[in-house]
Amino acid sequence: MKDIHKRITELKKKHQAIILAHNYEPPEIQEIADITGDSLGLSVDAAKLENPVIVFCGVRFMAESAAILAPGKKVILPQPDCGCGLADMADAAALREKRRQHPDAVVVTYVNSSAAVKAESDICCTSGNAVNVIKSLPPDKEIIFVPDRNLGAYVTKVTGRPMILWDGVCPIHDAITAEDVIRARENHPEALVIAHPECRAEVSELADAVLSTGGMSAYVAGSETREFIIVTEEGMIHPLSQAHPDRIFHPVKKGGMICPDMKMISLVDLANALETLAPVITVPESIADRARLALERMLAVPRN
Ligand code: 13P
Repeated sequence: MKDIHKRITELKKKHQAIILAHNYEPPEIQEIADITGDSLGLSVDAAKLENPVIVFCGVRFMAESAAILAPGKKVILPQPDCGCGLADMADAAALREKRRQHPDAVVVTYVNSSAAVKAESDICCTSGNAVNVIKSLPPDKEIIFVPDRNLGAYVTKVTGRPMILWDGVCPIHDAITAEDVIRARENHPEALVIAHPECRAEVSELADAVLSTGGMSAYVAGSETREFIIVTEEGMIHPLSQAHPDRIFHPVKKGGMICPDMKMISLVDLANALETLAPVITVPESIADRARLALERMLAVPRN
């Protein structure tokens, strides 16, 4: 273990590389990363980093976004097969057809989508800024929201803006039920419930707060409560426990809350990627240029 850490550190220095990791990545990957965070935070960082090499420990759409936002940088995804079940639920041709049916609509696309789908969109959003992105749009505009219908429904509830929702879900979040939350509350009556907005409405409605993974950590920091029930991918328990060792975090249920794509990258993969500077994630320029516009419009929306 010590040897591989040493190898990664040396190679990182040699290539002036920086390691970014999403909050759902395995603990050993998060611990060796230079920056960890949610999709919004990592996109913002990728856009402004000076390092010539960015090693992205996350899933493919995240590495693609980094490559689009940091043209000229080498963006490496240590395991090229890390996909996203939700991103796979929308494709560019189907979105073009939807646009044809609603020619005046604004297309808002959640970052959990392919670069080709982002290229067909007007503006992107993450779970951390979706409400602000929708509020930034002209009030009379029809909105097509792609691809997560649960996040879309949640944003509609908060903003009062009806939207045409794409029929996609994150299979992990969508499998969590109201009964799971009710049972967890019975087992931990003192705990506050924090849910991710990719959960179904029946789950979000039972939560004390609905937040991105980065928002969860900030919420705990600002709360006096000691115990929390965490309603998202189980990997999130690790960064919360690291950042707040004085608190107790319970996953909403045992089992079934692990995203296999987020667990694919090992320390050996990371070391090999730094050794070979591969696999590099590239996005064809014709797609990247249009997708960048949608991502940059999102980054221009004020954060609160
Ligand atoms: P966050 O942006 O909240 O980290 O969510 C990323 C994600 O893929 C959730 O499934």
